[in-house]
Amino acid sequence: MSTNTESWGSRVGLILAMAGNAVGLGNFLRFPAQAIQNGGGAFIIPYLVCFLLMGVPLMLVEWSMGRFGGQHGHHSTPFILDTMHKGRFWKYIGVFGIFTNLAVAAYYCYLESWTLAYVWKSISGAFNGLDQAQVSSIFGSYVSLSDPANPGQSSAVPIVFWLICLAMNTYILSRGLSGGVETAAKIGMPLLIVFGIFLAIKGVTITAGESGAIKDGSAGLNYLWTPDFSSIWKPSVWLAAAGQIFFTLSVGMGTIQCYASYLRANDDVALNAMSAGWMNEFVEVVLGGAILIPVAVGYFGIDGMMDLMRQGGGLGLGFRTLPYLFEQWGDILGVVAGVFWFGLLFFAGITSSLAMGTPFMGFMQDEFGWKRETAALGFGVSTLLLGAPTVFFFQYGVFDEYDYWAGTFSLVVFAFVEIILFAWVFGMTKGWAEITRGADIKIPLLFKYIIQYVTPLLLGWVFFASLPDVWKKITNEEIYAQIAAATDPAVITGLQEKIVYVNASRGLLLAVFLGIAFLVRVAYLKRMREGRV
Ligand code: ALA
Repeated sequence: MSTNTESWGSRVGLILAMAGNAVGLGNFLRFPAQAIQNGGGAFIIPYLVCFLLMGVPLMLVEWSMGRFGGQHGHHSTPFILDTMHKGRFWKYIGVFGIFTNLAVAAYYCYLESWTLAYVWKSISGAFNGLDQAQVSSIFGSYVSLSDPANPGQSSAVPIVFWLICLAMNTYILSRGLSGGVETAAKIGMPLLIVFGIFLAIKGVTITAGESGAIKDGSAGLNYLWTPDFSSIWKPSVWLAAAGQIFFTLSVGMGTIQCYASYLRANDDVALNAMSAGWMNEFVEVVLGGAILIPVAVGYFGIDGMMDLMRQGGGLGLGFRTLPYLFEQWGDILGVVAGVFWFGLLFFAGITSSLAMGTPFMGFMQDEFGWKRETAALGFGVSTLLLGAPTVFFFQYGVFDEYDYWAGTFSLVVFAFVEIILFAWVFGMTKGWAEITRGADIKIPLLFKYIIQYVTPLLLGWVFFASLPDVWKKITNEEIYAQIAAATDPAVITGLQEKIVYVNASRGLLLAVFLGIAFLVRVAYLKRMREGRV
């Protein structure tokens, strides 16, 4: 029997925890990178349309599914889906809602640990007096686990910070929803917003000629917010916008269903979902859009910022470039900005990774009677084991592979299938009743039809339109093209090795998925034996 007696302590705590689940590293690093790589002003309109036609409907659906499953004693998607329809395979579709979280947490906690290490580096003056290339090389050393002071020697510092981060996640989760997750959200979210507002104001008020800036910070904002209607019909821009909406709102992951499963039967889902979702959009579009891009444009101009973005993406700008730019603001402000930037990234990260721990914990507590502390430890150990390849083989593209299969592809697949289940199998009459029960706001009836017709069609389009890209990934087309273009034998050998690591990491992810499916089968048979099906 389930040992799960969790509940939310307060509505504010629930909304902050849900917002914390959504607000993550994606808001500050992935969003600006996606916006820039997809034409700045050309990205915003598809992004907002995807938010309204896919993000909002999916949030309403997932909150309702979660609350519905919770009433039947289920706190993870395999048996939440099973409760909605007794078809044999829904529970195996629900495997995504545990798998995705474990696999994303595996690389995400490592990324989170970089932010903690960089808070420490900012405080200890590690960037003082360094030029841009030197600051950038500190990051290169960090992710290749080498000692920046003694090139060629390895360093345990990244591993220590990673372990600290995993231990913090495990400890907070072991304290439960109200005692751990809610407390972390109540501390982390307000601080994140204060730090973000400070940096955003500083970013957009940079003036050309001051502290080495060559452009006003507002030039970056203009670049992002001047609509470019000419590229609005490019499918690639729409796919990128949809992908960002999934990742940032954490829809298609299984975390929202899990958090919502701890609601009471008549608790509101409509206003709660909108509050958490719009808070995420404020943090992403207003704050996330006003830091990285305006600061980088202020110092490098638009072309320079785009070059940097092409070379290292959001991670490159965030870790290789910003610490150097903060230095230009003087000794004290430079340190404050570094602590605020990496601090807000840390809070954004940990409130999301905590959410990723809960579906696995809920499943083990519900199905195998694990105690909360054991389940938290189980999550910590799983994340350690599954994350180890992303730490030790980062340079071979393992981290990116996890991000693609778990953090991008799986979200689309799961979201597509769950909306079909909700709108067409469970049925929209029951579905709409679930969404509106106990609602503290009136959701326009239009959304009933959007959920039934528009969102599934759009999701289907996103799924099928991304298949060519999936095929390119599976066949390692890009790496083979790099091998064909390379002349240096060492580079060719490196790329061939990369193929081995990339294929191995896919095999590992598949094995984890099948392993969870096996556990679901065992749990199902156990339920049958106990007469609980
Ligand atoms: N929603 C989380 C983020 O944006 C995963 O990082």
